[in-house]
Amino acid sequence: LGRELYVFEQVNSTNDLAKKKAAEGASHGTVVVADQQLSGRGRLGRPWASPPGTGLWFSVVLRPPLKPFLAPQLIFVSAVAVCHAIRDYTGLPVTIKWPNDILFSGKKVCGILTELSAEIDIINYVVIGIGINVNQEMADFPPELQEKAISLAVAGNTKYNRVGLLKAILKELEKEYEIYLTEGFPAVLKHWRSLTSTLGQEVMVSSTDETFTGVAEDINGEGCLLVRTEDGNVRSVMVGDVSLRGK
Ligand code: BTN
Repeated sequence: LGRELYVFEQVNSTNDLAKKKAAEGASHGTVVVADQQLSGRGRLGRPWASPPGTGLWFSVVLRPPLKPFLAPQLIFVSAVAVCHAIRDYTGLPVTIKWPNDILFSGKKVCGILTELSAEIDIINYVVIGIGINVNQEMADFPPELQEKAISLAVAGNTKYNRVGLLKAILKELEKEYEIYLTEGFPAVLKHWRSLTSTLGQEVMVSSTDETFTGVAEDINGEGCLLVRTEDGNVRSVMVGDVSLRGK
C-alpha cells in the first residue's frame, strides 16, 4: 500500500479525492493524505474536524476481489490494523469501539469512514478514510468535542511523528488485509475481539430510527453487534452508533 501516494496541504476531503482517483483508475493501495480538510466527513453524515498541522487525515483505495456484500468486513480489517499500529507506534493501550472507532480511555482518537463503489456482482473499489487526532492540545478541540475526543499527544503526553505513524498504519493494514484474504473473516474477528472495549459493556445504541439500551454481548460472524436488552432478547445491530450508558 502507498506506492501511489498523493500528498496535499489542503483538500475538501481525502475520501472524495481518493474516490475520484479510483474512478479514474488509481491502483489498489493508492493513498491520499492531506494536512488539512475543509469539509472532512464522518460516519452517518457527520462532519469531521480536520485542522492543519496536527492530525493525520488520509484515505486508502482498495480493490478487493470480493462480492460487494462482503465489503463491510473491511471495516473490521481496518479497525484492527489501525488499533494495532497505534498501539505499536505509541505504546498507548487504545481499544476499538464497535464497529471501528479507536478510543483512549473512552475518548475518541480516531474514526474510520469506509465507502464502496460496486456493480451488482463486483467491487470497483473501496475507500478507507482514516482520521487520527495526533498532536492536538485539548484547547484545539471545539467545545462540543472536549468531552468526547482526545489526541494521542494528550494521551501519551508527547508529540508523535505523523509520517512515521502513517507508515506504521499502512504496513499493518497491508498485513491484516492479507490475513483477511488468506485466512478469512473469522481470523480478523478474533483480532477485533482481542482489541475491543465494547463487549460486556452496557451500551446505548442509536440507529437511524430508534435508540435502545442493553449489554453488548458479542459480535456475530457478520460483524453485527449483539445487544441483550432488558427483556432478555438479543438484538443484532448492523449499522448505528453505540455509546457507553450514561456517557
Ligand atoms: C467517523 O468516526 O465518523 C469517521 C471519521 C473519518 C474521518 C476521515 S479523515 C480522512 C477521511 N476523509 C474524510 O473526509 N473522512 C475520513
